[in-house]
Amino acid sequence: MGFNPLKIKIGVLGGGQLGKMMAQEVSKWDLNLHFLDPDSQASCSTMSPNFTCGDFRDYDTVYQWGKDKDIITIEIESVNIEALLHLEKEGVKVYPQPKLIRFIQDKTNQKKFFTEHNIPSAPYFTLCKNQEFRESFEASELKFPLVQKLNKGGYDGKGVQVLNDESELNNLFKEDSFFEKKAEIITEVSVIVVRSSNDEIKCYPSVSMDFHPTANLVEYLVCPAQIPEEVDQKCRALALKIASELGIVGLLAVEMFYNHDGEIWVNELAPRPHNSGHQTLDNGAVSQFENHIRSILGLPLGNTNFDKMAIMINLLGEENYSGEVIYNGISECLEQNGIYIHLYGKSITKPFRKMGHATIVGKDLSECIEKAEFVKKTLKVVSK
Ligand SMILES: Nc1ncnc2c1ncn2[C@@H]1O[C@H](COP(=O)(O)OP(=O)(O)OP(=O)(O)O)[C@@H](O)[C@H]1O
Ligand SMILES: [Mg+2]
Repeated sequence: MGFNPLKIKIGVLGGGQLGKMMAQEVSKWDLNLHFLDPDSQASCSTMSPNFTCGDFRDYDTVYQWGKDKDIITIEIESVNIEALLHLEKEGVKVYPQPKLIRFIQDKTNQKKFFTEHNIPSAPYFTLCKNQEFRESFEASELKFPLVQKLNKGGYDGKGVQVLNDESELNNLFKEDSFFEKKAEIITEVSVIVVRSSNDEIKCYPSVSMDFHPTANLVEYLVCPAQIPEEVDQKCRALALKIASELGIVGLLAVEMFYNHDGEIWVNELAPRPHNSGHQTLDNGAVSQFENHIRSILGLPLGNTNFDKMAIMINLLGEENYSGEVIYNGISECLEQNGIYIHLYGKSITKPFRKMGHATIVGKDLSECIEKAEFVKKTLKVVSK
């Protein structure tokens, strides 16, 4: 296929860190991504000459911005679907397909899809505005503890709450939501699938969310996942089945729970690059970001396998610091082989804000854990 990268206009809705990493990965092919984000200080604002400040949730803004693009994709789900449908009708390629983004935006659609396609997921019941909790609860035959989830708009755990017993019913979310059985989780697992506009499909090895073995529950994303081989295979098979049956073009991250009874439950879907795929930038695979762009351009998909172990940790703003960011301890980390630091172009730190991530690549888990602990205690995101 002939290819003049300078002539292809790829638009990305959202200009955060996921967009920044996408742009970094494909700048090697002279591809310039065009970003739209409401935050004038967004990660992509300083690194792309084609950054537009505007609201990706607004119909007119998206439509006007999108008209001259050849292909549009997303790095965040909460975008204006009507505008994307309109652009698609006028011949702009939009991947993932707007109807699928809309479908995934509502978590109850995901739950229905799992039921209809025999995909294991937590049993649930729905509750719409003005409906009585008790009525639906009793009809469901579920018991406490339950997890309440907003149908729409949740992210980073906002919009999700555990209800241990009746006494917590006073704090129910008021918006449309559903309730599901609380899982007894050994580990959370994520599998990223990439499916191209030519119907080629591949997935990355499973990633597990593990915790610090000794202290204070620090989260590590470990790849390959620390789960039995047959569980990994089941997780991958489920993720591939979901992406194929949806017919999605682009990346699909499938979040799952591996439960104490040995069952796997699919938790939720994200049709975009995912936190659990960041290690693909450094572990020898073709990265999730490059494969995403390959998939929407209809290029052959790159290798998703690798033989190195990797741990990814988020670099979050320290609790008591707000203001212009300073990264302490970077040079100590860079002295060691196998530690890769990625910063997201955010000038202001706030408590727990995701400011970057570190990937630790090594030959085995204990080497990676040792270095990850070093990064965790050495690299601190603070302000003056
Ligand atoms: N049924 C459940 N049982 C036990 N824990 C759950 C359940 N559902 C969600 N959780 C916990 O809450 C977390 C957030 O839930 P979920 O992924 O559905 O929401 P989210 O807001 O989209 O989160 P994120 O953006 O972090 O992925 C999960 O990663 C898991 O730790
Ligand atoms: Mg989630």
